[in-house]
Amino acid sequence: MTINTIAINQQMDDFDGYHSVWLFGYGSLIYKADFPYLERRPASISGWTRRFWQGSHDHRGTPEAPGRVVTLIEHAGATCHGMAYLITPEVFAHLDHREKNGYLRLATPITFADGHSELGLVYIAMPDNDAYLGAASELEIARHIASSAGPSGPNADYLNLLAHALRDMGQSDPHVFAIEQHLASFDKAD
Ligand code: SIN
Repeated sequence: MTINTIAINQQMDDFDGYHSVWLFGYGSLIYKADFPYLERRPASISGWTRRFWQGSHDHRGTPEAPGRVVTLIEHAGATCHGMAYLITPEVFAHLDHREKNGYLRLATPITFADGHSELGLVYIAMPDNDAYLGAASELEIARHIASSAGPSGPNADYLNLLAHALRDMGQSDPHVFAIEQHLASFDKAD
């Protein structure tokens, strides 16, 4: 699959005719809401786990030296915690551009803290996209992140902002926190 997913996402018509739709964010969409929204609530989705397995050519790396950002990997029984935003369909164009490096706009049930669920959207970079980097140890991922940067800034900022945002929400993510610890240990060793 090509890296730029804008054209594919523009054809996604599951929410045609809706006045508002919930969007689930699990990465930078948790801590950087650079779009208008009607409401924002902590939420989760089931059957997926967050991993720094997607390459970033446009935000936290470059086409020559991609950084590492999160995507979701299918995992039976897993729950991924994040932030849901109630948005209007006019916001899709901005999001499709922001998430164009391999992410597909998909429909998913989103569960809120009170247990209530609604069908909404999530951007997921599937393993068949050309920017996908795949699994590596958390130490290798931390080394990769420590040496990457792109137009949106250092890759380490992406990781640290995500870890802080999860902690602020009272959520723990062992994968994200392990990478954060490795990164902090490199800083101390400098
Ligand atoms: C998301 O945050 O939901 C998608 C991945 C990203 O933009 O970091």
